[in-house]
Amino acid sequence: MSVRLGVNVDHIATLREARKGREPDPVFGAYVAEMAGADLVTIHLREDRRHIQERDLRLLRSSVFTAINLEMGVTESIIGIALNVRPEQVTFVPERRQEVTTEGGLDAAGKKKKIENAIKRFHAKKIKVSLFIDPDPEQVKASADTGADMVELHTGAYANARTDRAIRRELKRIRTAAQLAAQAGLRVCAGHGLNYHNIEPIVQIEEIVEVNIGHSIISRAVFTGLEVAVRDMKSLLVR
Ligand code: PXP
Repeated sequence: MSVRLGVNVDHIATLREARKGREPDPVFGAYVAEMAGADLVTIHLREDRRHIQERDLRLLRSSVFTAINLEMGVTESIIGIALNVRPEQVTFVPERRQEVTTEGGLDAAGKKKKIENAIKRFHAKKIKVSLFIDPDPEQVKASADTGADMVELHTGAYANARTDRAIRRELKRIRTAAQLAAQAGLRVCAGHGLNYHNIEPIVQIEEIVEVNIGHSIISRAVFTGLEVAVRDMKSLLVR
């Protein structure tokens, strides 16, 4: 049994946008990642288009063999694009323009009505919806109430924990949230800040069936090439 791997190729686009040119191309990156065993291609089309562009999403739609997981803020303009391009799966994330990366989970409890309405529109087109939330029981319960298909538990606090005690505490939060989510009938994914050194305890949480990983894989790829970097991560996801 292996945890499914979504490779986030945003960081390839970040490098391209540094020169506003044509290379490196996240579309080619997705192809290599799939050849190396990625189960899913994950991208985040941000309002400010700082990395992934609409062109990438459209080309990926016609080139990806596995499935596309589109991370997106719950805004009308992005919802319109997503409903038109029809990825297999979307992940609602909170989005703040000034942030370096997605810093916290979605407030599923506070924004329930808005999320619920958006989910209905995606379900009408047979697109699965995941909610990126902090590993917090209240958020898990609210997510289940919205009709979402799955949750992605934010592993950033775990990844940033530095002492053994803090690491244990964060793992416990993730484990508890994962169990609660699975009991509520949600598929459970995890992501953010996961790397070759901290992934193992996450793989041991049996409710977690999928992880989305970007930064660490693309960073390693600078030295090993993307194919090796994806294969190395895949080999760590076996339970
Ligand atoms: N999952 C979600 C919802 C994210 O927003 C991100 C960052 O784009 C990731 C996973 C991947 O995080 P990282 O690049 O730290 O692996």
